[in-house]
Amino acid sequence: MYGMVNQAIEAMVTEKFGAEKWELVKARAGVDEPTFVAMKQYPDSVTYALAGAVAEVLELPLPGVLRAFGVYWIEYARRGPWGKIMMAAGHGTYELLAALDQMHARIAVSFPELRPPSFRVEPRDGGVLLEYRSERPGLSPFVIGLVEGIGTLYDERVEVEQVTSREAGAPFDSFLVRAAPAKGG
Ligand code: HEM
Repeated sequence: MYGMVNQAIEAMVTEKFGAEKWELVKARAGVDEPTFVAMKQYPDSVTYALAGAVAEVLELPLPGVLRAFGVYWIEYARRGPWGKIMMAAGHGTYELLAALDQMHARIAVSFPELRPPSFRVEPRDGGVLLEYRSERPGLSPFVIGLVEGIGTLYDERVEVEQVTSREAGAPFDSFLVRAAPAKGG
């Protein structure tokens, strides 16, 4: 994955737990480089090793770390150079979820080697069913955090429930997402 993802993990750990913890995480993950380059491609194994090392160093469950990183990523991306592209893609949770492939495609103009996931939405039970397809394993908790983070962009209270799971043998992961205005409910 592009270095910007690893940079965001570094920013989250440093902001929330301090620079010393980040050094421990890098050492545990076997990462020698002092910094990551946003526009450079790194093997996915580096990102997985970092996530695993965060969980070990902070003694937290990995799914919880991935979910917290999803929430963090949205705020981090909003502040970053591509924040405007994300914000222009939708004006509410459901709208942004429906526009994710288009949004990643616009980002791929600057990141030609991007291998983004693919999302599909359809109305379901007073919310939407979000289908998530990826060539990478194990990232469902990350998606759950991302969707929760998207809700905070629009001051919406968002509930996410996993419906199908690749880990359990389904062909793809899917989630039931319900969003409502945060106030008055
Ligand atoms: C400005 C906003 C965003 C930028 C710049 C961005 C960029 C990226 C980048 C660079 C990757 C790594 C893939 C690679 O390097 O090949 C990635 C992966 C991913 N992105 Fe985004 N993204 C943005 C917003 C979002 C949002 C709003 C979602 C919401 C669901 C999302 C979902 C994902 C997921 C789940 C992955 C993990 C890769 C996978 O599942 O295979 N991204 N994105």
